[in-house]
Amino acid sequence: MEQLVIEKSKNLRGEIDSQGSKNSALPILAATVIVRGKSVIHKCPHLTDVEAAIKILRYLGCKVEWQDDALVVDSETVNRCDIPEDLMHEMRSSIVFLGPLLGRCGKAELSAPGGCEIGLRPIDLHIKSVKRFGVEINEGFGKISCRANGKLKSCETVLSFPSVGATENAMLSACLAEGTSVIFNSAREPEIEDLADFLNKCGAKISGAGTGKIVVEGVKRLSGCEHTVIPDRIMISTYLACCAVTGGEIKINNVCCDHISPTFNVFVQSGCELICRQNSVTVKSNGELKPIGTVRTMPYPGFPTDFQAPSMTMACVANGTSVIVENIFESRFKHACELIRMGANIKVEGRVSVIEGVKELTGANVTSTDLRGGSALVVAGLCAQGQTVVRNLSHIDRGCEKFSETLNSLGARIRREQTPDEKGQKT
Ligand code: EPZ
Repeated sequence: MEQLVIEKSKNLRGEIDSQGSKNSALPILAATVIVRGKSVIHKCPHLTDVEAAIKILRYLGCKVEWQDDALVVDSETVNRCDIPEDLMHEMRSSIVFLGPLLGRCGKAELSAPGGCEIGLRPIDLHIKSVKRFGVEINEGFGKISCRANGKLKSCETVLSFPSVGATENAMLSACLAEGTSVIFNSAREPEIEDLADFLNKCGAKISGAGTGKIVVEGVKRLSGCEHTVIPDRIMISTYLACCAVTGGEIKINNVCCDHISPTFNVFVQSGCELICRQNSVTVKSNGELKPIGTVRTMPYPGFPTDFQAPSMTMACVANGTSVIVENIFESRFKHACELIRMGANIKVEGRVSVIEGVKELTGANVTSTDLRGGSALVVAGLCAQGQTVVRNLSHIDRGCEKFSETLNSLGARIRREQTPDEKGQKT
């Protein structure tokens, strides 16, 4: 096991490049299963969730290799249509292989996916929308067996909630289906647009991605292409939050300002200065934050649930009261109890948290509860008095590429080390 030992770090300064988006790279890697031949995915982040997707692709018969920051996937030789339970459990995004397997093989044998413990994470919307394409689905004994009689049939499907994953699965099921399909109440996240962009480069005919209505005209075949993954909007905002709480000035390159605009208000309310240029964003902060106001997480273009935890850390050290309402996941405040161990003043009632800012947090031994909660604890450690130790880094490694190295390049003082066992021996 490893841990991050974080010293209080003031005034971060410097320039960094954003990583490629985890939540864009993962569905694009799943999409290579319905693409013949070689695809080159540039700016694919080096993350454990990406490694989990690579394991699934190789299990299915794809050839996958890294070439610097590009992942080359040759899916000509797909020869399986099932994913073992242990591979499904490694991450949430494994469920997005459902549509591609149906499109490629006309059948799929899966089990429920894994992912962060931020709620029940049901897959009923995935199942409902895939069934609309003429797929017979039997669930039982923890398994999901799917079979299409011949090719998938185009359809019109309405999502009862603009689920990101269910939108991705519906798009991926529709690409090779006979006829034209329409997905109503689709998710509008930038990652949906990026997936559609990749698929259209491969020969798909998708329009409306990024809106609440996506139209897909089925085609006979998709061929590999070169694609660059969009920047990771959540990690960009997380680095901005690091500078907000420590004070200083950082510039992040390879940024799409539109994608991070839903988080701007938190920075402006808290007294930071944000400067967005063509493809970069600069934040300036004196480290003395005002409250972030009332934040309500919503589907894109609303405030992103994935930035809720880091924004709570900002609220913890603001000079006043902030409120956060988590409307997307039913159990996404677990990081609050770890922040309270660091001296934060947070009250949680169901989906509402009220944060009374304190003058300063104090360093403590804390445990990462999920990916974004873990990154919020790192943000807290940067501005807490003394030393903070963040354990259970497996969550953070799922989505934060070179997190401590990048922060140290801006002047943070973080070291990664083995967690000592009970006898104090480094394990
Ligand atoms: C994607 O998860 C992201 N993950 C999540 O990021 C992100 O928080 C979420 O979208 C919302 O933006 C990836 O892209 C890999 P949803 P997903 O389906 O697709 C409910 C991170 O930290 N729901 O939009 O699983 C669900 O329980 C991760 O990077 C159903 O009820 O999210 C939730 O309450 C965490 N039935 C809401 O919809 C379903 O079949 C939104 O879920 C599917 C979802």
